[in-house]
Amino acid sequence: MADYCIAPSILAADFARLGEEVDAVLAAGADMVHFDVMDNHYVPNLTVGPMVAKALRKHGVTAPIDVHLMVEPVDDMISMFAEAGASYITFHPEASRHVDRSIQLIKNAGVKAGLVLNPATEIDSIKTILPQLDMLLLMSVNPGFGGQKFIPYVLDKVKQARAAIDATGCDIRLQVDGGVTADNIRALAEAGADTFVAGSAIFGKDDYQAAIGALREELAK
Ligand code: DX5
Ligand code: ZN
Repeated sequence: MADYCIAPSILAADFARLGEEVDAVLAAGADMVHFDVMDNHYVPNLTVGPMVAKALRKHGVTAPIDVHLMVEPVDDMISMFAEAGASYITFHPEASRHVDRSIQLIKNAGVKAGLVLNPATEIDSIKTILPQLDMLLLMSVNPGFGGQKFIPYVLDKVKQARAAIDATGCDIRLQVDGGVTADNIRALAEAGADTFVAGSAIFGKDDYQAAIGALREELAK
């Protein structure tokens, strides 16, 4: 069985109590913290920056922090998030003028590197750089907002991405982000995803342990 990772997105957390919220999902069985960074430029919304990631580390969070950069340009944010304690940094290739350089910046900082593909971006467009990545993230909604509906055609992209990753022979996580729920997580896993971002499907529920349990139950089927 694949080693599945559940990554609650802080976007759906209560930002006024972020430390407690992150502690609560980790205690409820989450594997990593998905940290959505939006700049009102690459996407039409604004969230939080490296100071908040640093504050979570200071608060005592030791779990991996998976930073999803929805910012343009990306390079300055890479060094700041590396310094703040990021474990993974992923960015959208459209947001960097020199994708290979940005990937190298992440890796040279000792952080795991990934690319994020929007729903309409082809897997083939990143085939050359794929072996350099630690993670490939497929967006299953258009980036910018939590609580959107899963775009069904992304399921086929997950299959394509799984085949492309397997062909590299490299150890690359395949993550899906956007509209992931207990109703579609099983199909996503069968298509080849191993890392699942869930915002509203976890933070939108009263009982985080039950919410994560419901996702894991589907994965175990
Ligand atoms: C969207 C973000 C997602 C989002 C997921 O731009 O990248 O991480 O918060 O939230 P849900 O699971 O509610 O779609
Ligand atoms: Zn995200």
